[in-house]
Amino acid sequence: MKYKEIKNNVYYCGLNDCERKIFDELIPLEQGTSYNSYLVKGSLKTALIDTMYPPKSDEYIKNLDENGIEKVDYIIANHGEQDHTGALPKLLDKYPDAMVVTNQFCKNNIMEMLLIPENKIQVIKNGDELSLGDKTLKFYMAPGVHWPDTMFTHIKEDNLLCTCDFLGAHYTFEDIFANDSKELEHAAKRYYAEIMMPFRKMCQKYTKQLQELSPEMILPSHGPIYKNPKFILDLYADWSSDEAKNLVVMPYVSMYGSVEEMINYLSDKLNAAGITTIKHDIVSDDLGDLAMALVDAKTLVLGASMVLASPHPAAANAAYLVNLLNPKLKYASIIGSYGWGGDLINKLTGMLCNLKIELIEPLLIKGKAKEETFKQLDKMAEEIIQKHSVNS
Ligand code: FEO
Repeated sequence: MKYKEIKNNVYYCGLNDCERKIFDELIPLEQGTSYNSYLVKGSLKTALIDTMYPPKSDEYIKNLDENGIEKVDYIIANHGEQDHTGALPKLLDKYPDAMVVTNQFCKNNIMEMLLIPENKIQVIKNGDELSLGDKTLKFYMAPGVHWPDTMFTHIKEDNLLCTCDFLGAHYTFEDIFANDSKELEHAAKRYYAEIMMPFRKMCQKYTKQLQELSPEMILPSHGPIYKNPKFILDLYADWSSDEAKNLVVMPYVSMYGSVEEMINYLSDKLNAAGITTIKHDIVSDDLGDLAMALVDAKTLVLGASMVLASPHPAAANAAYLVNLLNPKLKYASIIGSYGWGGDLINKLTGMLCNLKIELIEPLLIKGKAKEETFKQLDKMAEEIIQKHSVNS
């Protein structure tokens, strides 16, 4: 594969991975992903910025050979996770004079995870610069998006900013430059929801910092290069803002249809009042879709059947995930149905302990909804409508 030039001797040398179906053994990938790596040829020195996922390392190194890259002086590790550092051991064998350049936190990570020898690592701090001759790399520490070791690398003279996972997308491409399409926006939002949303406040901070730095292009570690950084920075400003939208997300699991009937009834009532709802069958629907819906939602209503006097494991899994992702939700409630008893409400609300939410009176019934149940659902709908109208 012949490398494509991004600008003035800066090249894309990453790879698509169209076959990968799941990330972190957790996140379904709709169309695979890319692992981006960038080659910077200065007048005196050559650097690689980030490397490759281990299973793709041989192909990555073969491409370096095919493109005649005989000498690499520096390998910049913007983050220690192995989808970007996995090729380091093989690269250091191939280029024995190269030094890995990274921050102290990342140094510790790659020494532990990849057994990189300490004497092969050059440690830099926030604001440090590294000269390649006619090009300068400047490093900005960016802990929290999404690991404590994350940093950005600015190719100063060309004003290109490598942002690592931040602003990325699990997205494969032929054209290395983003087309700013709705499809890319969808992939970037899904990526934000699953990976960056737990660090929403940090995303706010770095989005603002990058708007001020005003790079000509943003070069993330997954997905295409943003020639128009405003496209992705505006989206991040919206997604990470404190403003929730007039949206209720309703993940549910329903063994005999009782919970689903109540969820549908409540959803219809909310829709009639102008509130958008997203119903999500936890068992059959894609987890990534639930994460995406949570990016903007103001209220969560979790619907659950009971198994062995406890919340259905699928509902517990959803509550655990929502709690981990820590979206900007303001309100939450629970709708449940049981056969012979047990503790549903306390167990599920206990699993939402990270969320800064106001709990709306939950509803737990035995078996199927009755006349009284629908009155209680009307009351729940009224409360949600009132809260959304006051705060929207
Ligand atoms: Fe793409 Fe945090 O690795």
